[in-house]
Amino acid sequence: MTRTMMIAATAALLAAPAFADAIDRIKIDAGESLFDAQCRRCHAVDATDPSYGPLLDGIVGRKAGTFEGYEYSEALAGAGFAWTAGALRAWMEDNDAFVPGTKMRHVGITDPTVQDFIVSYLASVGH
Ligand code: HEC
Repeated sequence: MTRTMMIAATAALLAAPAFADAIDRIKIDAGESLFDAQCRRCHAVDATDPSYGPLLDGIVGRKAGTFEGYEYSEALAGAGFAWTAGALRAWMEDNDAFVPGTKMRHVGITDPTVQDFIVSYLASVGH
């Protein structure tokens, strides 16, 4: 390896984590805009904001249908799983099929990139 190549390789290694952080930031910001457009009119992520649907603060890892004080459909209250990134993607894609009997209006977000951005945003709030 030449000296120049070594310097270039070292620089690339040093830059990698910062680059990954920057990508994460972009995904979270894009997810926030998408969430604002498609979800925010029914869901807040901050308990001080009004929320018609359940608060989604800390939703990744939370058991479905368990936000205290919210009146869920029987279907979601009895669903018995915890929200993972995969579950959230399936829910956004077709919530009625994922939990038949849910009272959330169908959103139908089928683009995996859009799903991914919204999940990144949701994973970034409430920890
Ligand atoms: C028209 C209002 C409305 C819109 C728009 C909406 N939701 Fe919902 N959402 C609800 C309601 C109502 C429930 C409760 C469903 C139930 O009890 O069956 C819910 C439930 C949920 C839950 C389950 C929460 C829990 O505590 O288990 C998640 C996750 C969720 N919504 C995500 C989203 C996302 C992400 C979007 C945007 C892509 C979105 N919702 C758009 C009304 C909405």
